[in-house]
Amino acid sequence: MTDFFTMHPGETAAPVPPGPVLSAGSTGIRRVHRFLLWAYGEAPDLVRSAAPGDTSRAAYVGEVLGNFDKVLLIHQEGQDLFMYPQLAERAPASASHVEQMLDHHKRIRQLIQGIEPVRKRWMQTADAENREVLAKGYEGVQAVLKEHLRREVTEVMPAVDRVITEEELKAMVQHGVRQHDKKFLVTYLGMVLATNPPEDRREIFSEEIPAPARLGYRLIGRRMYRKQYATLFPGRAIPETL
Ligand SMILES: [Fe+2]
Repeated sequence: MTDFFTMHPGETAAPVPPGPVLSAGSTGIRRVHRFLLWAYGEAPDLVRSAAPGDTSRAAYVGEVLGNFDKVLLIHQEGQDLFMYPQLAERAPASASHVEQMLDHHKRIRQLIQGIEPVRKRWMQTADAENREVLAKGYEGVQAVLKEHLRREVTEVMPAVDRVITEEELKAMVQHGVRQHDKKFLVTYLGMVLATNPPEDRREIFSEEIPAPARLGYRLIGRRMYRKQYATLFPGRAIPETL
């Protein structure tokens, strides 16, 4: 199977500045992107899985989707603050790529913000009309996101790896971690592990996750992840994590 993160004909990467590789940003970002691809691939049908009038399922699904949206917007905000301005300054030849990626971010943000009131209304009413508007809205997000998640990895990350340090990347990750509550983060870890290949899974767990969070995942996160998956997708086998 071809790697999802592969350039399409006619696409070109930003020129890679000379010098050593300073960080493993490409690897980390692929891992988050795999989660986002999965999440927004499922979103439209998840919305449609709540029968009209089933307000308890609409409220549950809507809350999970709201968490996905929060992860996505905070992830983008971190890049807007900690990655793209630095890339543009340190690798000026990547300017047009930076502009394009920031434009994708803006379009995605507008789409998510546009459907937020619909999601909130539907969570209370579970009505068929809002359900379809929301499902279509998530299809729109998915379309832009699918292109963005691929092209960010193939076109800009090779340059980012040469101009952004490990410390700077850590600050970007922390910016995100600080904005989520710990209970959510351990469930999120389950989703990230489940959507990444086994070798990445082991590395994420042993190298990216601090010891207290690993413990939290073992004590409650794994169980919460499994319960959430089983509720979202009744009858489906729960993907392996760790
Ligand atoms: Fe991005």
